[in-house]
Amino acid sequence: MSTSPDPVTVRPTGATPVPDQATHDPDWWRTAAVYQIYPRSFADSNGDGLGDITGVTSRVPYLASLGVDAVWLSPFYPSALADGGYDVDDYRAVDPRLGTLEDFDEMTVALHDAGIKVIIDIVPNHSSNRHRWFAEALAAAKGSPARDRYIFRDGTGPDGAHPPSDWESIFGGPAWTRAPDGQWYLHMFAPEQPDLNWNNPEVRQDFLTTLRFWGDRGVDGFRIDVAHGLAKDLTEPFTASAHLPDPAEADGSHPLWDRDEVHDIYAEWRKLFDEYDPPRMAVAEACVHPTRRHRYAHPDGLGQAFNFDLLEAGWNAAQFRISIDRHVEDGGMSATSATWVLSNHDVVRHATRYGLPGAEKQPREVAMAWLLSNGDQPRLDRDLGLRRATAATLLTLALPGSVYLYQGEELGLHEVADLSEGDLQDPEFHRSNGSRKGRDGCRVPIPWTNEKPSFGFSEKAAHLPQPDWFAQHSIRNQEADPDSTLQLYRRALAFRAKLARPGFAWYDDENPAVLHFTRPGRWHCVTNFSPEPVALPEGTVILASAEPVDGRLKPDATAWILTGRGATA
Ligand code: NOJ
Repeated sequence: MSTSPDPVTVRPTGATPVPDQATHDPDWWRTAAVYQIYPRSFADSNGDGLGDITGVTSRVPYLASLGVDAVWLSPFYPSALADGGYDVDDYRAVDPRLGTLEDFDEMTVALHDAGIKVIIDIVPNHSSNRHRWFAEALAAAKGSPARDRYIFRDGTGPDGAHPPSDWESIFGGPAWTRAPDGQWYLHMFAPEQPDLNWNNPEVRQDFLTTLRFWGDRGVDGFRIDVAHGLAKDLTEPFTASAHLPDPAEADGSHPLWDRDEVHDIYAEWRKLFDEYDPPRMAVAEACVHPTRRHRYAHPDGLGQAFNFDLLEAGWNAAQFRISIDRHVEDGGMSATSATWVLSNHDVVRHATRYGLPGAEKQPREVAMAWLLSNGDQPRLDRDLGLRRATAATLLTLALPGSVYLYQGEELGLHEVADLSEGDLQDPEFHRSNGSRKGRDGCRVPIPWTNEKPSFGFSEKAAHLPQPDWFAQHSIRNQEADPDSTLQLYRRALAFRAKLARPGFAWYDDENPAVLHFTRPGRWHCVTNFSPEPVALPEGTVILASAEPVDGRLKPDATAWILTGRGATA
């Protein structure tokens, strides 16, 4: 096997904004394989230890070789990073540490030239406390128009020294912080993330300007952060429960989450999206009850919504099947398409979730406890976790709809559990008084090569320390190994692009621990969740997460098979 060169570095010159779209297919997003880039941790081009936009551009050949249809970039805006960039100082600029708007335009052109669409993150529920508007709000008087862009209220108790309600923020601690003049402002996340008032027409108008700003630059779509939180009923007295219910339990009546009026906002956005050719797509991050998710995916609204069920599902056939049935059906309900997510920047990587004892039932809970112990307890079975992770990936890649992949999962990366307290950047750890470790462990910069100081990520040490074991997972190593996880992802994405056509049917297996479905073209996908090998249907195995033996699929594995005469991919 020849050693591939380092992922080629290409920097296009003379790029112009508003590039031609490679394709005008308005439905590209329905079946897209989207690769999530966490920009500060992807590739650093200027040697400061922080990933940047030109770093992304330099890795376009890698992204093209992976075979993804689109990238989604987590926020790259100016930010003090109180919440990893989800605290935005200016929605229409690039963080100077990450580059310039010109760099962004060059990146967009390079991605488009490679046939890859660009989705960016929009964070409309809250700005940062360094946003010009918030500075103006603090400087302005109570009841002023500047304060009305946010949610300011008088406190309760003598001298208003108590917050207006006892709501807690998602990261822990009170959801209200007192301003210097004694009023309180609402922040459902960190105090550095004041919630915007979506009843204010200027706020509404400004986000339309932002969407147009990026749409005009050639961005193909938007991932909408906390899409379920914008509309609020803040009529006083606040009668909602003292503690916020889990957003997933909201039914439309809670004052803060998943209110029906939120869809008026998205209907307005949809009109703007549809002015483009092809229309800009949007995908909602809506943490709502699964039965209400389709509202966000309505064609008159955002059009697509993340399905996060598999982030919670245990490694067992029944839980996967429930989720699949629900979402394939959901697609029909809202004329959208299903979405599949196994990892992202907010959760413990799926290779790790599936390698911990208890993964069959409550992998997320076990993984959170494991993180808190710095990875000591319970013992992680790395190989088992990776076997199951690739099996799950092949399963989701064979399903109808679009799939969202998170940077590093194609390398089989595990979560980094032993970051020291001093290195943690996520507010979750401190705001929860250490009862949650936070999300830094999946945000550690990815390894490109085997060399220190940062495995090809930067010329300098990375902004979050990378463990030594990252070297084994480096892209350079995996390029040279035909059996690597990276090569499996490449082959899977290539087959998927070639094979996927509308249609899906279960092929009921006698063994309830086996999931077997077919797609048009006699494409079968079989996943074995049981502890014993199982027989595969006759045909050509075109891809498998573990090589079948004597026509039998090993435990914790998925195989793709083409059945029928002369079956070839
Ligand atoms: C969801 C994002 O994915 C997460 O990273 C962020 O902390 C919250 N929204 C708040 O913006």
